[in-house]
Amino acid sequence: MTNKSSLLNSYKKQKQLRELKAILPEVFEGGVLDIQKLKAFVGEDAFIDHANYELSWYDKKLALDSAKANCDAELVYVKDRSVLPKKSKNLFIEGDNLDALKLLRKDYQEKIKLIYIDPPYNTGKNFAFSDNYHLAADDYLEYLNQFNIGRVDELTQHRIESGEVHTQWLNMIFPRLILTKDLLTDDGAVVISIDESEKNNLQLICNEVYGEENFVACFIWENRSISNDSSNLFSTIHEYILVYAKDKSKLKFKGEEKDFSNYSNPDDDANGEWIPDNPSAASGNENSRFPIVNPITKEEYLPPNGRYWAFSKARVEEWTKSGKMVFPKEKGKRFLLKKYRNELKSEKKSLSSIITDIPGLKGTKELKELYPEEIPFKHPKPTDLLIFLFDQLSGKEDIVLDIFAGSASTAHAVYKMNQSQDSNRKFICIQKNEKLVANTAGYKLGFSSISDIAIDRIGRAGKLQSVNNSGVNYFKIEYSE
Ligand SMILES: C[S@@+](CC[C@H](N)C(=O)[O-])C[C@H]1O[C@@H](n2cnc3c(N)ncnc32)[C@H](O)[C@@H]1O
Repeated sequence: MTNKSSLLNSYKKQKQLRELKAILPEVFEGGVLDIQKLKAFVGEDAFIDHANYELSWYDKKLALDSAKANCDAELVYVKDRSVLPKKSKNLFIEGDNLDALKLLRKDYQEKIKLIYIDPPYNTGKNFAFSDNYHLAADDYLEYLNQFNIGRVDELTQHRIESGEVHTQWLNMIFPRLILTKDLLTDDGAVVISIDESEKNNLQLICNEVYGEENFVACFIWENRSISNDSSNLFSTIHEYILVYAKDKSKLKFKGEEKDFSNYSNPDDDANGEWIPDNPSAASGNENSRFPIVNPITKEEYLPPNGRYWAFSKARVEEWTKSGKMVFPKEKGKRFLLKKYRNELKSEKKSLSSIITDIPGLKGTKELKELYPEEIPFKHPKPTDLLIFLFDQLSGKEDIVLDIFAGSASTAHAVYKMNQSQDSNRKFICIQKNEKLVANTAGYKLGFSSISDIAIDRIGRAGKLQSVNNSGVNYFKIEYSE
């Protein structure tokens, strides 16, 4: 920069500072801009940390504030909507889950092992509940006008369109995720169902709320079969299930049972049951292509062409002595290497990240069993899916909280688990007072809201199962005038 241009620059800055001082004298001290006063004036949050990696959207700060805001509401017990109230340790809360989560802090702070979240996916459609969080273009532009965005180029136009679609949904889910953290036990987890509409946004904000290091799994749930007649010749046949831990180091899946039916102990080996192991491996180096000599027949064995022994030379003597390696008494036969059950790193099998054996329609069939005339709620989650998730991530005495209860599939799943596992899990279901519109199946069956459907299903499902902990205590959120 030449002297002349740096002089001009400095002159320009001085002029801008004089202008700022004229408008905001309170952020100047002794004629000098005081950065602390400026921060106090605009608020710390206005100082964006450019090293920060996060998803941003208009109103994010307000969404954050709504998680922090006090809640001037209370839970009011409704006796005549409760089922077997004296016996039950389960709760149903009718009301907005933002406030319900705040109210639950009083008695359930750090007490909940598993929170299941099955939110509206923001598909833009309407079911018994509204699944459309898209803003009307005019409303969104009114929002944005505050920022004087001026001429809109093509890129900005795309961003505006995406903002219309996602902003309101993000504002809804973000504070609720924040609040779930307070309720989780140290070894607790949240499990979230979602589809393509918001999966990417959801994962980014979960990283922000729970920490990317606490991401545990993203299951792909194959919930439907390929359509054999789609116009673009592509069928999405899955949803996602995200799992985040409060502290990943404290969380472990239970895994699946391994099949040990082919293990046996025909020779009464003191090490117990075994199966024949493959002594060769596809990879290795020249040191692992040594001859093994049968101590009885003196026959020499080499690994098959292109393969290597799966162990070092030193092991041969040790294993021959211990009986893990058994040599035949006649020439022309291979030696046997035993794999003992007690050598396995785990008695359990790892879970697959793809869930294939629970079709979504199973949820509908279950409701049909309870409501043979017509199902009151479309696309309920199959209880088998919930049982799989709850079983992996919670213990027999734990509390499972569902903050978007819908038709109360979670309650039904917990009943079933308590019966089949003789467990004593408790559920808390939250469902807002979402009224049913006249043409819905639920309305035609005589229900006026989704909570009506949920509580009726809880009653019917409870009658079909004889359970340790049945029934439910019903509360609704009431606001002070
Ligand atoms: C996708 S459905 C859940 C379906 C449920 N898992 C089942 O199997 O029946 C989402 C539910 O969340 C409810 N919901 C939406 N916003 C809510 C809020 N702020 N508080 C509580 N419930 C809400 C909707 O009314 C709807 O019943």
